[in-house]
Amino acid sequence: MKAVVVIVMLLCSSSIVTSLRAPEPEPEPPSPAPTSSPSTLDPKQVIALESLDIPTARDPCGQPSFHNATLCDNAKPFRHLISLRLANCSSYLSLSFTALKALSTLRSLTLLNCPAAPTHLPPQLATSLTSFTCVNSLRKVSGVWLSQLQNLTHLTVSDVQVKASGPFVILAHMSKLTSLTISNANLTGSLPGHLHSNLTHIDFSLNHLKGSIPPSITMLLNLQTLNLSSNALSGQIPPSIGDLISLQNLSLASNSFSGSIPDSLSALPDLLHMDLSSNQLNGSIPKFISQIKSLSYLNLANNNLRGVLPFNLSFINRLQVFKVAGNSNLCYNRSVLSSKLKLRISPCDKFGMPVSPPAKDSSADDTTDDDYDETDDEGSRHKKDHHHGPNKFVLGVAIALSSIVFLIVFLILCSKCCR
Ligand SMILES: *[C@@H]1O[C@H](CO)[C@@H](O)[C@H](O)[C@H]1NC(C)=O
Ligand SMILES: *[C@@H]1O[C@H](CO)[C@@H](O)[C@H](O)[C@H]1NC(C)=O
Ligand SMILES: *[C@@H]1O[C@H](CO)[C@@H](O)[C@H](O)[C@H]1NC(C)=O
Ligand SMILES: *[C@@H]1O[C@H](CO)[C@@H](O)[C@H](O)[C@H]1NC(C)=O
Ligand SMILES: *[C@@H]1O[C@H](CO)[C@@H](O)[C@H](O)[C@H]1NC(C)=O
Ligand SMILES: *[C@@H]1O[C@H](CO)[C@@H](O)[C@H](O)[C@H]1NC(C)=O
Ligand SMILES: *[C@@H]1O[C@H](CO)[C@@H](O)[C@H](O)[C@H]1NC(C)=O
Ligand SMILES: *[C@@H]1O[C@H](CO)[C@@H](O)[C@H](O)[C@H]1NC(C)=O
Ligand SMILES: *[C@@H]1O[C@H](CO)[C@@H](O)[C@H](O)[C@H]1NC(C)=O
Ligand SMILES: *[C@@H]1O[C@H](CO)[C@@H](O)[C@H](O)[C@H]1NC(C)=O
Repeated sequence: MKAVVVIVMLLCSSSIVTSLRAPEPEPEPPSPAPTSSPSTLDPKQVIALESLDIPTARDPCGQPSFHNATLCDNAKPFRHLISLRLANCSSYLSLSFTALKALSTLRSLTLLNCPAAPTHLPPQLATSLTSFTCVNSLRKVSGVWLSQLQNLTHLTVSDVQVKASGPFVILAHMSKLTSLTISNANLTGSLPGHLHSNLTHIDFSLNHLKGSIPPSITMLLNLQTLNLSSNALSGQIPPSIGDLISLQNLSLASNSFSGSIPDSLSALPDLLHMDLSSNQLNGSIPKFISQIKSLSYLNLANNNLRGVLPFNLSFINRLQVFKVAGNSNLCYNRSVLSSKLKLRISPCDKFGMPVSPPAKDSSADDTTDDDYDETDDEGSRHKKDHHHGPNKFVLGVAIALSSIVFLIVFLILCSKCCR
């Protein structure tokens, strides 16, 4: 153990000395450096990397670097780090102010499973970063700490406690942000009334956000993903959500949204994935949803939706996932859809009301208890997974009959031949 440490120290100091000895611009090609070459990285940054347990015996600027942890620019005489990823750090690792200050050329910093305490952030580093990712790292961070990162275009914080009175504290000055994820962070407060119009991705899932969706969300014309799932949001889904013309993935699942599903959602031309499950949405399902050409995932389960399901078989078959279970006042038209789809809602009576009680109605020819068994996962529809008893039976009878006919013909032929 000690020997290893000594060797590492020797290697490190020798690399520093060699790089110090060569202050002249070297004609070093930016191509992958041979493993034995001296480090071309700024010696201050070599020391900072060592303090962060990143091995520097091999040139950290050579590619691919150790676990792809580092990426350098091509500056002369010394190269500088532009990207650093710390993963699976020791619990003893500390991020010192000195080390972070030496790393103020970084544009991207990623911490994965790195339980170091958050340090006072050097202002130079705070403004140099354009991308910051912190997953299950830094134990907990404050909104004020994050808000210093004003040049960010990408911010991802997940599986970390974020202490702030609301997202606005974090975001107020991040005017260049395009991708924002603060997920599973116990974040409280409400959605900011103003968000920057260049955002393409917003994920606030798995937090404690309250209040409603601000109507100003419709300013986000570039928004492709909006994930607000698993919060405590309420109120109506604003009809102006149909103005988010770039939206592809929308999840408002597991909140307390009420009122009806806005018709305007069907105006979203690129919508692929729509999850409104586990809310208190009421009213009927807008028929126009079936006119969204790109849709492949539709989950409306566990709401208070009512009336006749306005979809036909060709629409439902086009979807990869379709869930409507857990809407006790919703029913499907038996002359349009088969009970074999296992939608886990009741068929309608002639007034468009659910036949009740759903499970024990044996009057209809093909409505059997089998349609309501609880063995499948929560109301999901599985295509082509169901070989039905009657069909097998018919096939069996057909085979048996044809074998008998064949046998008779054979016997007749046989008896004629043998005569
Ligand atoms: C490093 O990145 C390259 C290209 O992105 C990838 O092919 C390689 O598998 C990565 N290596 C490690 C150890 O992650
Ligand atoms: C970190 O640990 C996880 C699980 O132990 C492993 O899958 C991952 O590859 C590790 N990452 C690095 C960069 O060592
Ligand atoms: C960060 O932003 C500030 C002010 O907005 C600007 O002066 C500075 O040049 C930016 N830094 C980088 C590295 O982009
Ligand atoms: C959120 O809070 C709960 C209870 O206070 C705690 O158990 C959980 O670990 C916290 N989550 C995170 C990501 O810190
Ligand atoms: C949005 O992006 C465009 C081009 O990508 C850029 O010109 C504009 O300044 C950005 N707007 C803001 C508010 O950052
Ligand atoms: C939303 O976030 C949840 C939890 O992080 C995730 O499981 C789900 O796939 C996301 N949905 C979309 C549409 O991005
Ligand atoms: C939307 O979600 C799908 C998975 O359902 C994923 O493959 C796709 O990358 C997501 N698109 C965006 C823009 O996030
Ligand atoms: C739906 O719920 C809202 C409030 O939650 C209520 O005002 C409205 O009357 C309900 N509409 C229907 C059709 O039940
Ligand atoms: C099913 O519904 C879609 C959308 O409403 C419609 O375009 C299509 O013609 C219908 N197909 C059949 C077979 O009725
Ligand atoms: C069910 O569909 C048939 C045929 O399209 C239609 O005549 C009937 O009115 C529908 N029933 C209900 C309750 O909507």
